Amino acid sequence: RARRIFDDIEEQFRLDRDALIKITEQFLTDFRLGLSEYNQAMAMIPTFVTGVPNGTETGTFLALDLGGTNLRVCEVQLLGNHQFHLRQQKYKVSEALKTGEASALFDYLADSVDAFLTEIGSESPTMPPTSDPFTSSPSLLDMTQQPSIPLGLTFSFPVEQTALDQGKILTWTKGFSAKNAVGHDVVQLLQDAFNRKHLHVRCVALVNDTVGALLSRAYSAGGCILGSIFGTGTNGAYLERVENIKKLGDSPARQKGGFMVVNTEWGGFNNSRTVLPTTSFDNKLDRESINPRLQAFEKFISGMYLGEITRNVLLSLIDAAPRPLLFNGKSSDDLNRHYGLDTAVMSEIEEAWEVGREDPLSGHSDAPKVNGVRPDWQFMHFTDVDKLPHEDVVRLERIRGIITQRMGISASDVSLTDAAIVRWAVSLVAERAAKLSGCAVAAVLVQTERARIGGGFVPDEERIIIGVDGSLIQHYPNFGTKLRDSIRSLVGAEVEQRVDIGLAKDGSGVGGQFAIYLRLDYRS
Ligand code: BG6
Ligand code: GLC
Repeated sequence: RARRIFDDIEEQFRLDRDALIKITEQFLTDFRLGLSEYNQAMAMIPTFVTGVPNGTETGTFLALDLGGTNLRVCEVQLLGNHQFHLRQQKYKVSEALKTGEASALFDYLADSVDAFLTEIGSESPTMPPTSDPFTSSPSLLDMTQQPSIPLGLTFSFPVEQTALDQGKILTWTKGFSAKNAVGHDVVQLLQDAFNRKHLHVRCVALVNDTVGALLSRAYSAGGCILGSIFGTGTNGAYLERVENIKKLGDSPARQKGGFMVVNTEWGGFNNSRTVLPTTSFDNKLDRESINPRLQAFEKFISGMYLGEITRNVLLSLIDAAPRPLLFNGKSSDDLNRHYGLDTAVMSEIEEAWEVGREDPLSGHSDAPKVNGVRPDWQFMHFTDVDKLPHEDVVRLERIRGIITQRMGISASDVSLTDAAIVRWAVSLVAERAAKLSGCAVAAVLVQTERARIGGGFVPDEERIIIGVDGSLIQHYPNFGTKLRDSIRSLVGAEVEQRVDIGLAKDGSGVGGQFAIYLRLDYRS
């Protein structure tokens, strides 16, 4: 019976290639829909960013970055040789600010900029040089005559932009829910806060963090087609042909043609969950979240949620009837608390398991059964830990230590079998996340004509450059490798080998600056 329960959970998390292909195809359908019509779940937001830097740009700028784990104020000096200097200060955003009145949140942002300028900032930010390739408009003068310090805002939430320095907040995500913000212009909200505090700072440009990642990687690598975040949330922005952004109609932006960065807001992919492999653990997470039925894709993938899905799996095993299957049926305050299991703890467990070896798990959920028995390692581990090699026992002991310290379960209730079960649950959740992330990236490769689903296509470019950022991709063991495996299974090795995935270092600080350059392109 225990075995049936484990098998059933594993089956629910299983994602074979056919399922991944179906999801990627749905992505392409939703891309097209979002490019044609406003108010779609996958918003496909035109960003009015119409070029990417090549690494020769120079200047010193001020940026404010809200939305991931931290609030940051940065001063970025672009050196013009793909390099930059960054000075930054991180500030905490309390739960009260995330969920209170928007004016209080924006006052706090303004205070943080004020504190940064007082304590850290010394050089006056400069304006982009007139020779910059992106700033052909004579209205550059408007900006240089301003006495205020120009600031680029990286705002990591969905905003329906109408210009580079204008856009209404569509919805909050990632646990934010500040009142009187949705439907308001985010640049205006920030500017009002600066004005209330008589700060001589002017918010002149607005970018999503994915756009910042794309621009930053382009600055470092000399080009980039996709910027993506795998962190607290997940999302991607890519370079699209303007003619494909049908919802822009006859606007000047559309008439001008060329390319524009589109912020997909792929976290909202398939909110109807017709293709996403929803388990009972996902349903529980969604029902108890502050935004039920929204951000479906993000809830399968990002750092804010992976710990919670795992917590749900573990609780179901603790509560299993007629016999508990974990921790002698005992839970802890941490495990009983909503969002009480941090994704960082999953990282620690994976790290402890991985020490000194190749990942023995890859592909485990697709392993063929022999005589109806899955020959994978897990089940043996659950029942027969005594027969394990010494190194594995050491690894499980380490995991046991993490469980007692980070989940608050007393050591006497954690057997080595329990440690193996926790590791198994963690890997199921994380592997599914990485595979699904691969669908989003593969869909962009197909949409931008660099790949075909199923493979067999050789792109023109030797290097397809992608920028990534976020705590998950940076810190979660093997997330990047599994993401690549998924891309390869979807679009073939020829394309995958050419994909150059690199960290978009300080994306929001550096990337956000280009929006200041670009600001003058469209003032529609
Ligand atoms: C940071 C960027 O490096 O990564 C932010 O500056 C971005 O703009 C963040 O939102 C994403 O990662 P996380 O893990 O903080 O959500
Ligand atoms: C959420 C936000 C999106 C952001 C992403 C990554 O999905 O809606 O705007 O880019 O998180 O931070």
